[in-house]
Amino acid sequence: MEIIIFDTQKELDAYAADLLVNTAGEKPDAVLGLATGSTPIGIYDKIVERYNEKKISFAGVTTFNLDEYVGLRQENEQSYAYYMQKHLFSHIDILAENTHLPNGMAEDIEAECARYDEMLEARPVDIQLLGLGHNGHIGFNEPDVNLSGGTHAVQLKAETREANARFFASMNEVPSYAITMGVGSILKANTILMAVRGADKAGIVKEALTGPITTNVPASLLQTHARVIVLLDREAGRMIE
Ligand code: F6R
Repeated sequence: MEIIIFDTQKELDAYAADLLVNTAGEKPDAVLGLATGSTPIGIYDKIVERYNEKKISFAGVTTFNLDEYVGLRQENEQSYAYYMQKHLFSHIDILAENTHLPNGMAEDIEAECARYDEMLEARPVDIQLLGLGHNGHIGFNEPDVNLSGGTHAVQLKAETREANARFFASMNEVPSYAITMGVGSILKANTILMAVRGADKAGIVKEALTGPITTNVPASLLQTHARVIVLLDREAGRMIE
């Protein structure tokens, strides 16, 4: 596991963006695994900047997002499909048909999960971007006694709904379920790039990276992967320095 600590968020964002851009540069039909949340926004801004500098084309690139809420339409500003359009897809030359998110409006959620896994099997992820939840979740894989390998529906924990409530008008509007790639699917990516910012994540960063490998801290399973790059700002990295 390679851990890099940055003095500024800008440096972290630029480094992460360049890793993703370079993957697409070296392999024009690269498969990028993407995340949402607050952490990747600056990274996506930087990718768009690189694109506008004509440094890269995404015309041959395929993307798979980690997760999506159940029950929100794509047009809903809180859906992850909307987020991806807003922060990345609408600004670059990626083809809409090559961008994939689980369909949280699918009538048959189980069939949708199976469909997503089939697509992932067919197009393995070259580099998977991850954020880290305060409870150690990756994607929406919440701490539990068992973790699912493949894409599956999850009931969100109260603390995750509370953390996400800031984006919704009221707590009632925060979805209770989501579809997420499983930890097994995440670990199949050739390279995993986890970005974490902020003092409030310092404790969980330490647990995930240096603590025991346990399903109670889903991100600790990353310790079993051969190629993980962790990008931290000083605050998030202060307990492991
Ligand atoms: C989002 C996702 C989540 C977030 C995590 C951290 O697609 O999979 O696991 O990465 O909740 O979120 P932020 O970056 O908002 O702290």
